[in-house]
Amino acid sequence: MSRVTLSRYLIEQTRSHNTPADLRFLIEVVARACKAISHQVSKGALGGVLGSTDNENVQGEVQKKLDVLSNEILLEANEWGGHLAGMASEEMDNAHQIPGQYPKGAYLLVFDPLDGSSNIDVNVSVGTIFSVLRCPDLNGCSGDIGEEAFLQPGTQQVAAGYAIYGPQTMLMLTLGNGVKGFTLDRELGSFVLTHDDIRIPQSTAEFAINMSNQRHWEAPVKRYVEELLAGQEGPLGKNYNMRWVAAMVADVHRILTRGGVFMYPRDSREPDKPGKLRLMYEANPMSFIIEQAGGASTNGYQRILDIQPTSLHQRVAVFLGSREEVERVTAYHQA
Ligand code: AHG
Ligand code: MN
Ligand code: MN
Repeated sequence: MSRVTLSRYLIEQTRSHNTPADLRFLIEVVARACKAISHQVSKGALGGVLGSTDNENVQGEVQKKLDVLSNEILLEANEWGGHLAGMASEEMDNAHQIPGQYPKGAYLLVFDPLDGSSNIDVNVSVGTIFSVLRCPDLNGCSGDIGEEAFLQPGTQQVAAGYAIYGPQTMLMLTLGNGVKGFTLDRELGSFVLTHDDIRIPQSTAEFAINMSNQRHWEAPVKRYVEELLAGQEGPLGKNYNMRWVAAMVADVHRILTRGGVFMYPRDSREPDKPGKLRLMYEANPMSFIIEQAGGASTNGYQRILDIQPTSLHQRVAVFLGSREEVERVTAYHQA
C-alpha cells in the first residue's frame, strides 16, 4: 500500500469527517513549524542553539535559546496564513496578535513551543505541544484578541497534538476521532502515517513521577505511590516499574505506546500553585490525546478537560494514562 502522508490523511479527514479546509491548513502549518524546530534541535552545539538566554518567561523560568527560537518559528509560520485569530504560548506573557497586514481566521492556537527544556543541553528528548480552539464569536475575533477568548475548557479543543524530537521525530495528532502517529521521513521532508489508531492499555505496571518531591505531596498521592512501591507484597499485589524523562512529551509518548500512569501532583512547595504543569498548553492537549486513545486524565478531583480556565498560564495537577490506575489515584483523592 502506498504511504499516507499527513497531507493525505488530512484530505481524507475532510472527506470522511468534514474537517474544514482552514483547520487542515492550520495543522499543516504547525507540522511544518515542528519540522523546522526538529531541524534546529538536531543541530545542537553545531548550530549554537544550546544554553540559556538572559531572559525569564512569565513563569519565572530562565528561557533556553531553543525555547525562544521554537516560539519564534511557530509564530512566524502561523501569522500570515489567515487561519488564526490569535496565539498564546508558554513563552509569552499575553495573547499574541496577528499582525495587521494579514487576514484573521476562526481559530486560536496555544502552544508549549519546547517542552522538556532541561533536556536540551543533555541531548534527551524534547517536544512541542499544541492545542487548537475556535475563537468565540462573542469576543469579536476580527479585532485584538484578549486572554478571555482562550479561556475555554479542554472539551472545546478541535484538535491537539505534539511533536517529539527523539531518536525519531514524530507528530501525534487528534482531531477528535482517535489518535494518529506520523513519523518524519527526513529524506522526503514529510510526516508519514506510521501509527494508526493508537490505544492505551487499560491496565499497566509502570508509573512516572518525580519522586524527589515525595515529601511535598498531598496525602492521597503519598498513599498511592507507597502502594505502587510496595509491589507484589503490598495491597495492589503486583510489582511496578518507574520511568521519568522530565519532558512531559516523552513520558506521555511512552504511555501512549505501552501504557503507564503519569503524575505531576500539586505539592506544598508553592501552595498557591496547583502543580507545575500548565493547563492550557500542556495538560489540556495531552488530556485530549490520552482520552482519544482510551485513557483517562484528571487533576485528582475532576476530569481535566472539564476545568474552566481562569488564566492563560494557570497550573494544574495532572494524573493521566492507563484508565485503571488513573481511576485508582483519583478515587484516593475522594476517600
Ligand atoms: P517546560 O520545559 O515546557 O517548562 O516543561 C517541563 C515540564 C514537563 O515537561 C515535565 O514533565 C516537568 O516539567 C518536569 O519537571 P521536574 O523538573 O520537576 O521533574
Ligand atoms: Mn512544558
Ligand atoms: Mn516549554
